[in-house]
Amino acid sequence: MSTVTAESTREHRITLPILARRKRRGAKISMLTAYDYTFACIFDTAGIDILLVGDSLGNVVQGRETTLPVTLDEIIYHTRLVSRGVRRSLLIADLPFGSYQISNRTAVASAVRCVKEGGAHGVKLEGGTAVADAIRRIVAAEIPVMAHVGLTPQAIHRMGGHRVQGRTPKGRARVLADARAVEEAGAFAVVLEGIPADLAGEITQSLSIPTLGIGAGVHCDGQVLVMHDLLGLSDWTPSFVKQYANLGALASQAARRFAEEVSHGKFPDEEHSYR
Ligand code: KIV
Repeated sequence: MSTVTAESTREHRITLPILARRKRRGAKISMLTAYDYTFACIFDTAGIDILLVGDSLGNVVQGRETTLPVTLDEIIYHTRLVSRGVRRSLLIADLPFGSYQISNRTAVASAVRCVKEGGAHGVKLEGGTAVADAIRRIVAAEIPVMAHVGLTPQAIHRMGGHRVQGRTPKGRARVLADARAVEEAGAFAVVLEGIPADLAGEITQSLSIPTLGIGAGVHCDGQVLVMHDLLGLSDWTPSFVKQYANLGALASQAARRFAEEVSHGKFPDEEHSYR
C-alpha cells in the first residue's frame, strides 16, 4: 500500500479537513491575496494553500483610501478571474462592507453569489460576536466561512484608523471573545490582523480552528500577506511586512527601457518584426 497521502501530492486540492489536520499537526498554512488569473496561476503553482480575493483590492487595485466602497459585484468579478487560475489552492472571496451587515438573509445571499457566480470555495467576513449569527447562517447553507478579528479595516472609522488592537486589557478581552465567538459560530479559520504577538499566541492556543496572522506575530497557525506588499508593488508597506521581491522597481525599469528604445527607434528591431 502506498504511503503517499493525498495531502503530500502537489496537485491535490486544499480542503477544510486538510487545514484542520494541519492545525492538529502544527504544520503551517500559507495564504496570499490574488485579484486576477495571472497571479492566481503563479501562486497556485507555487504551492500557496489559500488564495483570498480580498477587499484590499479597493486599495491596491482600485487606488482607494479605504476598502469601504468595494462592491459585491467587484469581489465576484475578481473571484471569477482568480478561479480560472486555481487548481490546488482553496479560494476564498472576501465579503465587502455592506454585503453581510444588514441582515443574515443578505449575508447568506452574498455568500451564495460568491460561490455560484465567482467560483469561490468559501467566504471571509470581518467581525466577531456581532457577526456570529451571520456566520452560523452562512455555514448552515454549506458555505465555509473564514472569520477576521482584531484590526478589521471595514471598521476603520470606529477604530480611528488602522490601529493595532488588543493592547489594553479591555481590548485584549474583546479580541479574545471575538475569536471564541467565531469559532463557536462555525468558522473554519480566523484571520488575526494587527494584534500583539502574545495575544495571537493565546488565541491560537485556545482555538481548535487555524489562525492566520497578518501583523500578528509568529505564533499563528499560518500567515497571510497582501500580494502587492509581498512583491514590492505597494507605495507604502506596514512594518510587519516582509518584501520578498521588488517587482515595482523591475516593472519601472522595463517600462523606462521600452520608452527609451521606442523613442530612439531601437524597438522593434529585425528580430522582433514579421517577415
Ligand atoms: O482584504 C484583504 O486582503 C484581507 C487580508 C489582509 C487578510 O482581508
